[in-house]
Amino acid sequence: MKTLILGAGGQLGRELQLSRPDGVDMVAATRAELDIRAQDAVLAFVAECRPEVIINAAAYTAVDGAESKPDVAVAINAEGPGYLARAAERCGARLLQLSTDFVFDGEASEPYRPRADTRPLGVYGHSKLAGECRVREILPMRSLVLRTAWVYSRFGHNFVKTMLRLMAERDSLRVVDDQVGAPTWAAGLARTLWDLLDHPKAHGIYHWTDGGRCSWYAFACEIQSRALALGLLDREIDIEPIPSGEYPTPARRPAFSVLDLGGTEALLGRQAVPWETQLQAMLEDLEANPEPE
Ligand SMILES: NC(=O)c1ccc[n+]([C@@H]2O[C@H](COP(=O)([O-])OP(=O)(O)OC[C@H]3O[C@@H](n4cnc5c(N)ncnc54)[C@H](OP(=O)(O)O)[C@@H]3O)[C@@H](O)[C@H]2O)c1
Repeated sequence: MKTLILGAGGQLGRELQLSRPDGVDMVAATRAELDIRAQDAVLAFVAECRPEVIINAAAYTAVDGAESKPDVAVAINAEGPGYLARAAERCGARLLQLSTDFVFDGEASEPYRPRADTRPLGVYGHSKLAGECRVREILPMRSLVLRTAWVYSRFGHNFVKTMLRLMAERDSLRVVDDQVGAPTWAAGLARTLWDLLDHPKAHGIYHWTDGGRCSWYAFACEIQSRALALGLLDREIDIEPIPSGEYPTPARRPAFSVLDLGGTEALLGRQAVPWETQLQAMLEDLEANPEPE
């Protein structure tokens, strides 16, 4: 299966490359190699590569930055996926588009199903939702939209690595306790994407995160205790739970963004691994590969 990966330098892009299954012939393009905003370049690159599958892990993921740069967010998160869908249409490829829990408003109290009403709270969520719609409109039967949340990896910038740095530098931390979601280790997510692509007829919207749920505060506490046990941190600091109102950000975030994984679990015949188990695996990965970049 010839597979083209966009956003190859990002967290998920890197993990997808590390987990390439046998039998997959992979072409991985970083932003420097293909900027998905350039329509002609996208069409030419895909025509030359002739993939059977395209995985779009490229995105503008700066949630707060998107509020002041809506044009950039829309160009990368909505228009780019549209160009990829057109390119896929021309060469008969399937397209797997990554999306986000931020398409929801967070007012639910039960996990969001793939067909639940969307109502993004900010520019990032709007731009990602627009990307979903374009891809599905252009390639209704050959596109998969995979929504995920709270992604981290030993690569790139993410909450786990930020917490580890701050926990090493500071004597105390204040972390938001009224936003609940599901952390997702990018390595496990990558494996799920490869498994999904083994289902040639799968199309439409899928949800995937690690199992369970927590607040950012509970996530931070778990990071600290597991990192201490592994020797990634050498002293314990105070972590104080705070409401979002005490940590204002340019973009509003959903208070509850747990995704219902039932459909994807049924298709794959396996359940999501608990987020605590995946966090442990990532921290061990980080310990084994301390200078990955
Ligand atoms: N991170 C999360 O918590 C999270 C949560 C839910 C959903 N998602 C979704 O999951 C997917 C993967 O996220 P991630 O965490 O791996 O993101 P990431 O680490 O920020 O990686 C995104 C990659 O896209 C590249 N990129 C940006 N603009 C581009 C352009 N115009 N053309 C080509 N490449 C471009 C970036 O390159 P540069 O590094 O050179 O800018 C980066 O390598 C995205 O669709 C994201 O929206 C992420």
